[in-house]
Order: sequence, then structure tokens, then C-alpha cells
Amino acid sequence: MTVKTPAPGDLDPIERASRDEIAALQLKRLQATLKNAYDNVPHYRKAFDAKGVRPEDLKQLSDLGKFPFTVKSDLRDNYPFGLFAVPREKVARIHASSGTTGKPTVVGYTKNDIDTWADLVARSIRAAGGRPGDMVHVAYGYGLFTGGLGAHYGAERAGCTVIPMSGGQTEKQVQLITDFKPNIIMVTPSYMQVLIEEFTRQGLDAAASSLQVGIFGAEPWTEAMRRDIEHKAGIDAVDIYGLSEVMGPGVASECIESKDGPVIWEDHFYPEVINPETGEPVADGEEGELVFTSLSKEAMPVIRYRTRDLTRLLPPTSRSFRRMGKIVGRSDDMMIIRGVNVFPTQVEEIVLAHEKLTGVYQLHISREGLLDTVEVHCELQPQLRGLDDSERSEIAKWVQHRIKTLVGISTAVRVFDPDGIERTQTGKAKRVYDKRPR
Ligand code: DLL
Repeated sequence: MTVKTPAPGDLDPIERASRDEIAALQLKRLQATLKNAYDNVPHYRKAFDAKGVRPEDLKQLSDLGKFPFTVKSDLRDNYPFGLFAVPREKVARIHASSGTTGKPTVVGYTKNDIDTWADLVARSIRAAGGRPGDMVHVAYGYGLFTGGLGAHYGAERAGCTVIPMSGGQTEKQVQLITDFKPNIIMVTPSYMQVLIEEFTRQGLDAAASSLQVGIFGAEPWTEAMRRDIEHKAGIDAVDIYGLSEVMGPGVASECIESKDGPVIWEDHFYPEVINPETGEPVADGEEGELVFTSLSKEAMPVIRYRTRDLTRLLPPTSRSFRRMGKIVGRSDDMMIIRGVNVFPTQVEEIVLAHEKLTGVYQLHISREGLLDTVEVHCELQPQLRGLDDSERSEIAKWVQHRIKTLVGISTAVRVFDPDGIERTQTGKAKRVYDKRPR
């Protein structure tokens, strides 16, 4: 799509404000948020008291470091509604994490919170080049997951025509894209890959479809994946970040004109990056764990929420707000293989660098005796079905060698036929299968 540099009227004034104006707004909102949390949520009152801090102790933004962190288990311990700062009757909507084990983590929104969320997703869509009258195909799952409804309300707020497709029904997704001709799609990058393949299966070319922009998030994805999807689907691919504990999609989102990492909507979320071991803040530009404090949420303010996502804070470019680097991975996804830290995204970059392979891959980890072993499953491009064994073993050797040199671990690599690896049928792809005994 011809990239539109935003006209002044396309942006909220705060997106162009000075850093001083932004800091003044943040300070005011942060003070109100700490007070709301302390006065209305027993968990925060207890946690602040235990650290000997009161909301009034926040005189400047850097004082936030004196306040306690919030972690995922705090949400579980207060299941289901214990972290709400408003009476339940004032909660307009509930979402919950897909947590595969144990209790889900529950989040709540007032009417105003839903309104802010819609505004921020609309802002994210405008950052991606979307304008009123555009048609948006939403293939994030609808339901307790924040992806579908979050994208939906934002696209409506942006003045777009929304197709609330949700995840799944891959064949129908492609049919509706072909017939309705949306120009924007919002979906996880791994499910976008599945849709691209479905176009081919139906004898169609994804690059010839009406789609011009994809707004992809909800899971880590690499620059290599961006190039692959942009090439195969003939679109611009931008990165949208968020998490349910902090709001949902639209905590940060990338500008199409720069594609240089999601811009954090700092008027509503205060970011910090900390050293995950010590909890101490690191300087902008240095990698660590991303931490967020909400600045306007009413129903469920979060104070210094540890996301477990690893990334860096970057200086402003296309907007006045700071950006975040692409998420390297979640600290929970980090595999320690014979003492080496490994993220699935490192393998993704390597697999996608081989022209005969697609971006579909899995890592299977097991233990033989005392040693961890890793098997990498990757897959041939569709036109290479039935490729002979010697060529496959050449590809496998290439991948193995690159992983050894760039990541530093020994692996066994298996090259599967096209479609040989199971796809995600809805949302986030599962890349790691860890079969080591706990
Ligand atoms: O995934 C919210 C969302 C929906 C974001 C749709 C973007 C688009 P959760 O299910 O709570 O919420 O999962 C949040 O997903 O902590 C990250 O680990 C990961 N994640 C989300 N967006 C990105 C992204 C939604 N752009 C968790 N890049 C987060 C990398 C992402 N990881």
C-alpha cells in the first residue's frame, strides 16, 4: 500500500506533544492511579504498607521504583475479582487469560476503560495507516481472549467496516477475504501464515488479494517473519503488542511509515525495563523485562506489572512516545539447553533464512541420560513436496550448522514435507514441546 504519512488531523494531539507535556500528564495520572489502587484494592494497600510506601511518596516519575512489583501469581491469588478497584456492578466487561493449567487470570473493565481501550486500538489502526471507511477483517479469537473484541471495538472506533470473523474456519476466512475485499487484517502472525497457505490450496494467490496491511501480534515474531509474510501476502506487516493484565491489544503499536518497533502509548501506560534477576531498572536501549503501570485504568489498575516479556525501550521516532524493540521472547519461553539460553525466535530467524523452508517450525526438547537433546522440525516450501533425501539432509545440515554457530547448541534437524507440521488453527502458535522430566 502506498504508505500514508499521517496528516496532523490523523493523530491525537498527545502523539505529537513535547516530552515535558507527556511527563506532566504521566505524573498526574500515576499519582491518581496509585491512590486508586491503595484506597480500593486490599492487595495493593498491603503490598505498599509492607514496603513502607504511600501514594503521596510519588513526587516525581522516578519515585515509582520505590513501589512494589505486581506479578501474575498476584492475579491468581486474588481470583477472580479481588484486584478490582470498583464495585462489581461498575465492571462492564470481564476477560481472562487462556491459562492452560490452573485458574485463569481474570481482568475487568469499566465503561470508561472499554472506551479508552477502543481509542487506543483505533490509534494503533491509524498508526498502521488505517482510516475511516477501511474494511478490517478481525481473525483474532473472540471471547475471553482480549484479541478479538479488543481489535473489534478499536476498528469500529476508527470508523472502519468490521468483519468479526474470529479464529478458525480457515477455508471460510479465505472465501470471505476474497468476496468482501477487506484491506486490513488483524490476526496472529502464525495464523496469517496458515491463511496464506490456504489461499494457495484454493488455487489463489494471497499477494493478489485485497489485503494491504496486516496488524500482527499476540505472540513473538521476527523481522524474518515480517519479510516472509509481506512478500507472500503482498502487504505491509506491522506489530501490535499488548497483554490482558495491562489492557489487551493496543498497549503499543507500530507506525507503518517507520516499522521500527511498537510505539508505547505512554499517555496510558508507564513502561520500565528491569533486570529480571535484580529488579533494578536498566537504561533505555538495554534489554530486560518489560514492566507496566497503568495510568488511566479504573476497574483494575496495575502497578509495576512484570510482563516477563524481554525487550528494550527505544527513543521516539514517528511519534513523541518511546518505542519498544520487538519482543525477543518471554522469560517463560526461554529454554536453557545445556546451559545456553535459547529463544524460539532465534531458530525462527535461521529457518526462514533458508529459501527452501517455510516459517513453520517446532522445537522438541527431551533428555537422554543427563543431557538435553533438541530436535528442530522444519518444513519444505509447498512446491518441494517429495524432495529427495540427499537434498533434505543438505538443508538439515545447513540449519544445524547455523544454529550451532549463531545460537551455540547442537541440534538434530528434521525436514518435513509441506503440511508435515501441525498448524495453529486459531491463535498463538505452540513452538516448543519440552518433554524433559520436571
Ligand atoms: O495476546 C493481547 C493481544 C491480542 C496483543 C492481539 C496483540 C494482538 P495475552 O493473551 O494476555 O494478550 O498475552 C499477552 O502475548 O505478554 C506477550 O508475551 C505476547 N505478545 C502479545 N503481543 C505481542 C507482540 C494478548 N506483538 C502476551 N510481540 C504478552 C510479541 C506478544 N509478543
